[in-house]
Amino acid sequence: MGGMSAVCLILMIGAAVCLAACPCSDPALCDPIQHSRDSEVYVFHVSGKSWKLYDWSKVTTVALFAPYDPELMCFAHSKGARFVLTGDVSVKEIVDPKQRSAWIAGKVNLAKTQYMDGINLDIEQPILPHTPEYYALTDLVNETTEAFHREIPGSQVTFDATWNPNCVAMRCYNYSAIAELSDFLFVMSYDEPPPIWNKCIAGANAPFNQTITGYQQFINLGIDPKKLVMGVPWYGYDYVCLNLTEGNKCEMGKCSFQWDPYSYAEGNQVGYMTIMKQVNSSLTGRLWDDVQKAALFNYKDTEGKIHQVWYDDPESITLKATYVKKLGLRGIGMWHGDVLDYSDDPVAQEQTKAMWKALTP
Ligand SMILES: *[C@@H]1O[C@H](CO)[C@@H](O)[C@H](O)[C@H]1NC(C)=O
Ligand SMILES: *[C@@H]1O[C@H](CO)[C@@H](O)[C@H](O)[C@H]1NC(C)=O
Ligand SMILES: *[C@@H]1O[C@H](CO)[C@@H](O)[C@H](O)[C@H]1NC(C)=O
Ligand SMILES: *[C@@H]1O[C@H](CO)[C@@H](O)[C@H](O)[C@H]1NC(C)=O
Ligand SMILES: *[C@@H]1O[C@H](CO)[C@@H](O)[C@H](O)[C@H]1NC(C)=O
Repeated sequence: MGGMSAVCLILMIGAAVCLAACPCSDPALCDPIQHSRDSEVYVFHVSGKSWKLYDWSKVTTVALFAPYDPELMCFAHSKGARFVLTGDVSVKEIVDPKQRSAWIAGKVNLAKTQYMDGINLDIEQPILPHTPEYYALTDLVNETTEAFHREIPGSQVTFDATWNPNCVAMRCYNYSAIAELSDFLFVMSYDEPPPIWNKCIAGANAPFNQTITGYQQFINLGIDPKKLVMGVPWYGYDYVCLNLTEGNKCEMGKCSFQWDPYSYAEGNQVGYMTIMKQVNSSLTGRLWDDVQKAALFNYKDTEGKIHQVWYDDPESITLKATYVKKLGLRGIGMWHGDVLDYSDDPVAQEQTKAMWKALTP
């Protein structure tokens, strides 16, 4: 390509950054997205090219959990959507302020060279309150937001939070500070543990009432609802049942919850596409649990074992998305965007359309 040249700059944070020529057909598409949004539809992209078939009339941010794809960057920008990095670092390593600023400078540099619009901090590490790591994490968020906002005008820095703020999975973070110091929290309302009296019974990934309680707890900490984006699962769990009791309760073999109340290792994660391929030939067809407000079905595997699959579908997601509006949250998003069937099969197309539609009832 003629004229391909690199431009090198020294950032205020002291790092050098070299910008390759803009890969988009229109060089203006390499500009960071500047406008602010009243509401978000936040999508995690993890693999493949199905992003081409996302409902771009809704998408506001795509977080990159896959290898960088310049075509996606140009495309997202052409739709006015932000395209952000993932940030994951061992918190032990960034207790030292020098190492912390070096890590941040590296991410800002990467975002600039890839013409991206921010970062999603996905830390997910156990941290106890009042430890050096606890304070370092808050500092990381503060300094990351400060550096991105300064170096990439209009950029967005977000943080992935557990479904409630109370030390879920030993992640005892200062969420009120993190919400304040970032643009918003993406609340991962999934992988929720079953209630303790029900711990050996298969249940929903994200039961409605429990999910809502999580948001109330964030808000009770003084967090502005506009700092919260609701994350819904586009996947469910497949459990092997030791026994199916009356009322179609699936008793599970192992009950490791006694030792690790937040491990959800009993079931296997299954994507919505797989679930939709199974449901019609299952033993029960789609059932609806009106207590947990989630869908489920039973099937028998080739060894004759009974399984129960619990999942979110347009009905359960519409209920949650309605609540997003009611409480004035910043928006909604999902883990993850590539798990639907984007083929040209007409039944799949209807199902995929319904899942996107459910996000904004
Ligand atoms: C955030 O960082 C700035 C310096 O970059 C500092 O002045 C400010 O006190 C920090 N805020 C918090 C809450 O730590
Ligand atoms: C958490 O951050 C807030 C600032 O938003 C601060 O007032 C509070 O003291 C912090 N909590 C702890 C335990 O450090
Ligand atoms: C299985 O469930 C049935 C019906 O509730 C019950 O009578 C039976 O004791 C259970 N079997 C085992 C092994 O738990
Ligand atoms: C499964 O059943 C539903 C409801 O009866 C139907 O609309 C759908 O087309 C079926 N799916 C497939 C893949 O045949
Ligand atoms: C869910 O919450 C509503 C409102 O607080 C309550 O009326 C209902 O009984 C709850 N359902 C369950 C299953 O806890």
